[in-house]
Amino acid sequence: MTDADPTPAAPESLLASADFPPQSQITKEIQDLHAEYERREAAGEKLPLTMHDFPPYRSSLLRHPTKNPKLVDPETIELHSPAFGQRDVAAIESDLTLQHSGEPLGERITVRGRLLDSWGRPVPNQLIEIWQANSAGRYIHQRDQHPAPLDPNFTGAGRTITDDNGEYLFTTIKPGPYPWKNHQNAWRPAHIHFSVFGSAFTQRIITQMYFPGDPLFALDPIYNSIRRQQDRERLISTYDHDLTVPEFSMAYRWDIVVDGPDATWTEPEGEH
Ligand SMILES: [Fe+2]
Repeated sequence: MTDADPTPAAPESLLASADFPPQSQITKEIQDLHAEYERREAAGEKLPLTMHDFPPYRSSLLRHPTKNPKLVDPETIELHSPAFGQRDVAAIESDLTLQHSGEPLGERITVRGRLLDSWGRPVPNQLIEIWQANSAGRYIHQRDQHPAPLDPNFTGAGRTITDDNGEYLFTTIKPGPYPWKNHQNAWRPAHIHFSVFGSAFTQRIITQMYFPGDPLFALDPIYNSIRRQQDRERLISTYDHDLTVPEFSMAYRWDIVVDGPDATWTEPEGEH
């Protein structure tokens, strides 16, 4: 390569191969599939919330579940599985900006919400765990090698227990979008991964929270593998100025509903 050559922003090995489909093709596939699902649903077909065979999500095609979930005896598994109580999780663990000697870079945010059941009742005393990329869109994970900086003051994992009102609160840094090589120049909308442990190990559910107004929503095969628009929108937090901490952090509210018709979408492993 000479000085006159355009220099790729990422090393050659990190760029998607030339035969990867472009975003325009993936977006068209998403739109066509959504239209098809709407037709099938209107014709009376019962469709799952998550479309496991969702070709635009290329990397999932060979690893989505093809068999029904294995039923386990809930009482037997409780003899061997972890259990959590209020005292097992320190209050400081919900603040992802305090885990190192310095302040992490990026936009400091408060994320707050309630864990609710299908009747809208709060679910107290539940372990909620989160993990996320840093403000530059980079995870501390050896498989994430894209050329964005790691932040020595940010690990990107935290946990808390819901209070008597089912409320949780995290202080963290707004994660950046990141490339993920599903197709040519594929970028994930900024998101925070959430795990809700439930009252038993077999109830654990995992999902993602997004931020309002993200321009990548329509382009993202993971977000769009959720069939219905209303289910997709339940994963988007709302900006809430009343929750901001003056001179300190912006704030987003996001409630999680664990079951019933208004349930928050969860990843397929958690589907029953
Ligand atoms: Fe992620």
